[in-house]
Amino acid sequence: STATAAVRAVLARRMDEPGALLPILHDVQDMLGHVPPDAVPEIAEALNLSRAEVHGVVTYYHHFRSEPAGRHVVRICRAEACQAMGADDLLAHARQRLGCAAHGTSKDGAFTLEPAFCLGLCASSPAMAIDDEPHARVTPEAFDALIHETQG
Ligand code: FES
Repeated sequence: STATAAVRAVLARRMDEPGALLPILHDVQDMLGHVPPDAVPEIAEALNLSRAEVHGVVTYYHHFRSEPAGRHVVRICRAEACQAMGADDLLAHARQRLGCAAHGTSKDGAFTLEPAFCLGLCASSPAMAIDDEPHARVTPEAFDALIHETQG
């Protein structure tokens, strides 16, 4: 499959580097959008690690996902300025509206919800981004409208 070919190509390029596991996982995710569970045994074998070790790293770093992301990625800023302006409430609202936890994907596969750390809109917090397009001063109502527009 394409996934297997991508994983093999990454392994061939990187497996002899010291500390190769993280760069390999980054490359695989860049190429495939996620780290497929099937890739774990192959990476483990190439690096002489146990499957549990590789799996542990994939699950420890929230950057890595084991499943493809939704069609749109919603990132909500959790850094200081946004925290002070209600980022927690906004995230809670987003979880409820999308029906998934942070790092999760809505059931219809439309949206993946991710916390973010500073989107550069600190003066207009709370901030979020949909597919890398930033939005400032996001109220729950504005959130709903943006999600509605994105879906439409
Ligand atoms: Fe949220 Fe900077 S702290 S955009």
